[in-house]
Amino acid sequence: MATARLTSEEIDRQMAICAQIAEGNAARPSQPLALVDTYGCQQNEADSERLRGYLREMGYAFTQDEALADVIVVNTCAVRGHAEDRVLGNVGALVHTKRKKPGQIIALCGCMMGEPGMVEKIRDSYRHVDLVFDPHALWKFPELLQRVITRRGRVFDTPGGDGAIAEGVPVARQGTLKAWVSVMYGCNNFCSYCIVPYVRGRERSRRPEDILAEVKELVAAGCRDITLLGQNVNSYGKDLGEGVDFPWLLERVCAVEGEFLVRFMTSHPKDASDRLFQVMAREPKIAHHLHLPFQCGNDRVLAAMNRRYTAAGYLELVRRLRAYIPDIVLTSDVIVGFPGETTAEFEDTLRLIEEVRFDALFTFIYSPREGTPAAKLPDVLTAEEKQANFQRLVDAQNAISHAIHQGYIGRTFRCLIDGVGKDSRNNLTARTNSGRLVHLSGPEDLVGQFRDVTITDATTWALFGRLEEEG
Ligand code: SAH
Ligand code: SF4
Ligand code: F3S
Repeated sequence: MATARLTSEEIDRQMAICAQIAEGNAARPSQPLALVDTYGCQQNEADSERLRGYLREMGYAFTQDEALADVIVVNTCAVRGHAEDRVLGNVGALVHTKRKKPGQIIALCGCMMGEPGMVEKIRDSYRHVDLVFDPHALWKFPELLQRVITRRGRVFDTPGGDGAIAEGVPVARQGTLKAWVSVMYGCNNFCSYCIVPYVRGRERSRRPEDILAEVKELVAAGCRDITLLGQNVNSYGKDLGEGVDFPWLLERVCAVEGEFLVRFMTSHPKDASDRLFQVMAREPKIAHHLHLPFQCGNDRVLAAMNRRYTAAGYLELVRRLRAYIPDIVLTSDVIVGFPGETTAEFEDTLRLIEEVRFDALFTFIYSPREGTPAAKLPDVLTAEEKQANFQRLVDAQNAISHAIHQGYIGRTFRCLIDGVGKDSRNNLTARTNSGRLVHLSGPEDLVGQFRDVTITDATTWALFGRLEEEG
């Protein structure tokens, strides 16, 4: 099925509404303030940059203080119950903020707004929320906000469905040095535990020319570190026609002139190909880092998760990847306590991490998501048993991460000096090509430059280094 695309007239209309709101805002005694609060993954961060882009066009300045904000937008995540509870707690507390500032507008958006029953819950129990929209309606945020401003009634817009692609929405990025660039939206994989395909719609790819124009513009504006985003970037282009796929796109992005690094996430193991690894090995601009979630090391559980690979298949993939790129930094996601997983099955996950020796892991305890197939499966372990397994995993990985970091000491890496840190002894932060954080001291005008850094010390989480003289 062809991907639906919004016409540029539709975005032009939203920009015209921004201009109208900006006119009203300019007439106010002081510049109104907006706050955008983001939960969840980089995709949501990227969406929040678009919400801020629109708000900036509407004449808002930004604040972190809820008490001062004229507009509060909460961009939510539905991936685990814990994240959701935090959102609902924080939104509940905004009742008091709004009581002190009666004109305040509160908007809720993001993945939670696509969940069954959530809109009704907000409608009935969170009556101080003025505006609700899902990720598919983000492109018309100006129109929705204008309806709230002019009518002072509550507005709900949650179309759901497969979703379309909107180009030309303004973006307000946090800094100039690093940027996220979405290459595709949605997911078709339907892993049995995951809500993302339900709330984000089907896979749809941006056109390569739109992506390349954005990358060129970013690099010209001083961006040195670009992360290409998608729930499964290795599916890029399947909806675009012949010859266009992710390795091809990577090559085009690398061909953009300038000194910058290219990262990408996430890659599903079933779609990671030798061609991808070959392009990564060949292109000096691509970071030697791969985030390759394996989720679980047991084949029965992997099948129940609908992951479509086996533990042996995953290990073979890692072996081939390391043959192409021996210094690859590998990170991954793991779920502990999938329904039906026994402790003996969990121990296959421990064995897998000992064999692969990931640089870092993102570890999660399974959280049932209503409407997903896994939520109907029975459990065999208690919450305490799952917690104990989780702790074993975290301890094992910490030991591995620590040992790998110790191995960095004495070696020199080309790093992007990317910011000023909080620690006065190590005033700068930097990232190795593969994204490891390094603390070091040096002149602040180096921020934005690539320099050689020798690692002098390491903990489980971070590296410490010394700048080398430029020869
Ligand atoms: N598309 C990405 C990941 C998106 S969600 C991918 O496939 O890699 C990020 C991570 O959250 C997943 O990799 C998984 O480890 C975790 N996750 C997703 N649903 C979950 C659930 N119901 N309970 C616990 N963890 C979950
Ligand atoms: Fe969720 Fe699986 Fe899609 Fe990742 S690939 S977003 S885990 S369904
Ligand atoms: Fe959360 Fe939505 Fe991302 S559910 S992890 S914010 S795609």
